[in-house]
Formats: sequence, C-alpha cells, structure tokens
Amino acid sequence: MTIRWSGLYLLCEMTVMLYGCSSSMENSSSKTTKFPLGRELYYSKCSSCHRVYEREMFKPAEWEKIINEMASKAKLTKAEKQNLLNYLNEE
Ligand code: HEC
Repeated sequence: MTIRWSGLYLLCEMTVMLYGCSSSMENSSSKTTKFPLGRELYYSKCSSCHRVYEREMFKPAEWEKIINEMASKAKLTKAEKQNLLNYLNEE
C-alpha cells in the first residue's frame, strides 16, 4: 500500500516534470501534492469507514475540526494529524 501510493506519486511527479505543469495548475485536487505523506495517510487511514472526501469540500478550519474528530477513529498520531492537515489544506 505504502509503496504503491508513493510510487504513483513519483510517477505523476515525473510526468509533470517531463510535460510541464500547465495542466496540473488548473486543478488543485489533481495528482500532484507537496505533501505525498499526508496524501498517503489520507488514503490509507481515512478510507476504511467511508469514501474519501474531496479536499475542496471543506475549508481549512472545517478540516481541522474534522481531523480532530476523526483522529481517534483513525488512531492518528499528532504527527500524522499534522501531515494530513498539510495535505488537506494545500493550496
Ligand atoms: C472508524 C471509522 C472512521 C474512520 C477511520 C474515519 N472516519 Fe470519517 N467518519 C466516520 C463516520 C461514522 C462519519 C459520520 C458520517 C458518515 O458516515 O459519513 C464520518 C464522517 C466524516 C466526514 C464528513 C463530515 C461532515 O461534516 O460531513 C469527513 C470529512 C470525514 N469523516 C473525514 C475523515 C478523515 C479525514 C479520516 C482520516 C483521518 C476519517 N474520516 C477516518 C468514520 C470514520
């Protein structure tokens, strides 16, 4: 799981480097992120009980509240919470 997601991320990153980033700029929910670890955590920890919500669905303040609630459900550590928030609130 871990290896698969980071592999996927690397692949996307390389594609962007090869073909320029014009298309990736248009949509912030697209494949690239500055926080691959947060993304990985999100998909591995937060998808077991319900679907994965799009990042755009909630504002940063809302995500913070949600993460605080979900942290105990997903058994997140402090560091994991922070990584997740970085990813979810990425511009
Ligand atoms: C143990 C099960 C479980 C895990 C793990 C879990 N959730 Fe949830 N989550 C729920 C339940 C139950 C609800 C209530 C509504 C629902 O079923 O969609 C919910 C609701 C939500 C909502 C909707 C809130 C709203 O106001 O509409 C979001 C967003 C969410 N979770 C995000 C996350 C994130 C991010 C993680 C990972 C840190 C996570 N969840 C992990 C059980 C879980």
